[in-house]
Amino acid sequence: MESEERVRHIVVMGVSGVGKSTIAKGISTFTGWTFAEGDAFHPEANVAKMHEGHPLTDEDRWPWLRAIGEWMSAEIAEGRSAVITCSALRRVYRDLLREGRPEVEFCHLDAQADLVGDRLTHRDGHFMPPSLLPSQFATLEPLEDDEPGATVSVEGAVPDVLARVVSSLHLPDRRADDLPIDDPPAGDLPGDHPQPPDQRTE
Ligand SMILES: Nc1ncnc2c1ncn2[C@@H]1O[C@H](COP(=O)(O)OP(=O)(O)O)[C@@H](O)[C@H]1O
Ligand SMILES: [Mg+2]
Repeated sequence: MESEERVRHIVVMGVSGVGKSTIAKGISTFTGWTFAEGDAFHPEANVAKMHEGHPLTDEDRWPWLRAIGEWMSAEIAEGRSAVITCSALRRVYRDLLREGRPEVEFCHLDAQADLVGDRLTHRDGHFMPPSLLPSQFATLEPLEDDEPGATVSVEGAVPDVLARVVSSLHLPDRRADDLPIDDPPAGDLPGDHPQPPDQRTE
């Protein structure tokens, strides 16, 4: 049951198109943990800017990162583990997300630019045009050894990547769990659960 497991929040990070949404949803299915799409926490102004093909500045990013952090804090307070996507390209962004939240770990999805470019070209209905990819790679500060989490290559098919993630992060397989996993804690009322904003961009 949730209460017997430590609460963990896995932030799936990396450049646009590397597979964050795909792999994070896979982690959520595997673990039974709450899934949230970090892109959905962007203020409207950021979404508009990206639509126009302009890279975000750090000033644009702080409110976005703070919103993600607040969502994680609310989930942690409820004792729920979660998996959330967030590019978290720079260490200072990850520092902000970790600050005061020892439950947070990062899963850095790692790939060569040509592989990501190819996958981005085939992705439909997303606001990030492939022309922003070079600036993503220029900004990326890879996960460092002293940061909790793991770096995983996204080469190969989705199930193979997911298997590497599960093994690297020692994720629990809740698909085979016979125990009831959804006993609501005392005092848990409908509507209590903070939800991420509606996904507007994918
Ligand atoms: N391992 C993989 N093999 C092939 N295609 C993949 C793989 N992982 C993701 N994709 C595809 O690549 C594109 C980008 O993945 P996505 O999860 O949207 O990336 P991100 O959320 O990091 O921007 C999508 O079309 C997705 O279906
Ligand atoms: Mg995504």
